[in-house]
Amino acid sequence: MTVDAQRRPRFADPGFWLGSLRVEGRALMAPMVGYNEAPLRRICRRFGSALAVTEMIKPEKLLRDDPQLLRGLCFGPDERPLGAQLALREPSLLVPAAERVVEFGFDFVDLNLGCPLKKECRRGWGAALLREPERAQALISAVVEAVPCPVSVKVRAGYELGERQGAEVARRAVDAGAALVCVHGRTKMGWYREPNDPAAIRDVVRAVEGRVPVVGNGDVVSLESAVALFAETGCDAVMIGRGAVGNPWLFRRIDLYLRSGEVLPEPAFDEVRALYREHLDQLEEAFGARRGFSQGKRYAYYYFGRFGLDNRTRARIAGARRRAELEDVLDALAGA
Ligand SMILES: Cc1cc2nc3c(=O)[nH]c(=O)nc-3n(C[C@H](O)[C@H](O)[C@H](O)COP(=O)(O)O)c2cc1C
Repeated sequence: MTVDAQRRPRFADPGFWLGSLRVEGRALMAPMVGYNEAPLRRICRRFGSALAVTEMIKPEKLLRDDPQLLRGLCFGPDERPLGAQLALREPSLLVPAAERVVEFGFDFVDLNLGCPLKKECRRGWGAALLREPERAQALISAVVEAVPCPVSVKVRAGYELGERQGAEVARRAVDAGAALVCVHGRTKMGWYREPNDPAAIRDVVRAVEGRVPVVGNGDVVSLESAVALFAETGCDAVMIGRGAVGNPWLFRRIDLYLRSGEVLPEPAFDEVRALYREHLDQLEEAFGARRGFSQGKRYAYYYFGRFGLDNRTRARIAGARRRAELEDVLDALAGA
């Protein structure tokens, strides 16, 4: 697929403002539970993701100062700008949780109004709040008043299939003082089975009327799909989740294209391997050799998937117990 130069979005400013916070680019890493540790955030940032958000922080653990959770909230300057994501429905819990994360130095607080998980929605968190726009507005307002940093919100197109509460909630969020809205163009009930709907993102862009930046999210897996999402929705930035795991080059390709129209070539095997090794090193350093290695093996499927991993190679990766064994598999893949 080639990029349609006619559709290239042209922004006078290569970045944007999230309230008082400067963001130097328009391709952003999405929060994903299990794919959000510091080494990944650092790599994505270096490769052009203009900001990151933590995965959804468990409020019960946060408010009882769970040591493991608190350790996970520490981050380095090379991961910034970094937001902390929270999901709750009771202002009496959400406000202290937001104040608590701010103590860790996060650049902004992100409120999750899109989480589709049953457990969270049953408690009225995440996407469930799309059905309670007034409550959502009051919650956002309470957090905006309580914290000194900008507050962003992440919503979905709607709750049930075909529902489109996202636009109203986005407008109310901005009325409440949110400095950025991110919208994933699917409903809660559609999970990943329904297609991402650019029209739902466009509706949010319209509802917000340029008062704050709107970030479009859903199914960006390539420069082409990023350009299409910009063109079809008028969004100010794109957020990328699954498509950037093992492919941080995507941020750089989008960023450079937006700035100059230049299309970077896809990375060659050796380049991918060098970055994968670095990621593995960082995981081992952060989590210890055993846990870091096992997490790192999982990333191998993402980094090397594009080089045609057959079932046998996948099984060899899964079975590797040491770095040397994994390197043997990669040697074989390089020579294939
Ligand atoms: C494994 C997984 C975990 C996720 N965890 C979160 C989360 O903690 N917070 C959040 O706002 N969204 C979460 N998401 C949703 C993503 O941020 C994103 O909105 C969604 O995957 C659509 O973007 P994509 O098509 O680029 O992946 C998660 C998605 C996946 C696949």
